[in-house]
Amino acid sequence: MVDLQQLKEEFFSLYGKAGEAPAVYFAPGRVNLIGEHTDYNGGYVFPCALNFGTYLLIRKNGKDTLRFASTNFDFKTEVPLGRVHEKVDDQWVNYPLGVMNEMIDQGMDLTGLDLLFSGDIPNGAGLSSSASVEMVTAFALNDLTGVALSRLDLVKISQRAENEFVGMNCGIMDQFAVGMGKENHAVFLNCDTLEYDLVPLTLKDYHLVITNTNKKRKLTDSKYNERRAECEKAVAYINKKRSIRNLGELSLAEFEQLQHLIPDETIRKRAYHVVSEDARVIEAIHALKKGDLEHFGRLMYESHASLRDNYEVTGTELDTLVEEAARIPGVIGSRMTGAGFGGCTVSLVAKDKTDLFIRDLDKAYTEKTGLKADFYVAEVGDGVKKLEA
Ligand code: GLA
Repeated sequence: MVDLQQLKEEFFSLYGKAGEAPAVYFAPGRVNLIGEHTDYNGGYVFPCALNFGTYLLIRKNGKDTLRFASTNFDFKTEVPLGRVHEKVDDQWVNYPLGVMNEMIDQGMDLTGLDLLFSGDIPNGAGLSSSASVEMVTAFALNDLTGVALSRLDLVKISQRAENEFVGMNCGIMDQFAVGMGKENHAVFLNCDTLEYDLVPLTLKDYHLVITNTNKKRKLTDSKYNERRAECEKAVAYINKKRSIRNLGELSLAEFEQLQHLIPDETIRKRAYHVVSEDARVIEAIHALKKGDLEHFGRLMYESHASLRDNYEVTGTELDTLVEEAARIPGVIGSRMTGAGFGGCTVSLVAKDKTDLFIRDLDKAYTEKTGLKADFYVAEVGDGVKKLEA
């Protein structure tokens, strides 16, 4: 847990005690339960917000400059207001800077600010540390400047900041979950219409356990963009006969009728993953609402298998975690979560077997991969919010 008092001390030692105390905001990380690589295809996703995330302490400084610092990275910088539209190499400040630019476009009057970020999401683990930084910035600026944008506007602004300023072509799932999440609920989102429903996450005798592969990811962005392009090709092939905007419009039965239009086997497999994953999300939510967690868990395994065999975004580390988890008593479901190629899995584990799960999986994973995993028993928290005025 982050110690707010200590963070404030740090804020004052960086920026001085003079002036008012900073306002404090928090945005969570997220874990996606099912519905992977469907968001940018106009499909369904089912993520939830976590109780760890990013804290932001922020105060107007009365100067013509933005001062940024983070307790997570050894990099701080000062950006004159006149240069806010310039990207700073490969640095994390591009997330808040991207958000600021988008909000200026929406009519926000930007003044000089002091900002201190502090996060307890493992970076690069696929739990949306970047969406969390974007959303906490957007929410805080909205509140401080009185620009009065809606939560949904802030979600879209944060996604655009990541797409256009940072250059990562992500879908809307992460920012949406971080913005709209609710304690003990998961967000069932239609990524085409942005209609959503908060579904109570009643897990009875089970915990959600997140396991970090701790694999150093390389080329994630380029492979991600490659998958997006493959899905666009599938849409183009199908459009020869039936006009669709995205794969999310097709039911499994319709896809089966049309798949012969896709001559390339790889592209056909990618499209099949998306359409079948969409169907699994709907089935999983039905199962959850009925309290049939075993069924939900089976769908998690099926989702992983499809991401491994059809979408090919898993890799040895994620596959090992899921295979080994399945051998442990009390585990009813497990899958990779997020973009893949490393990052985390999420598993449904009987509460009274959680210690055993962590012990046995930790051992088996290290034996097979030489890496050390990290485990987090997930608690489902609220979306972005203000903590202190
Ligand atoms: C990343 C992206 C999301 C989504 C997932 C895959 O987390 O940021 O938009 O596409 O990958 O489901």
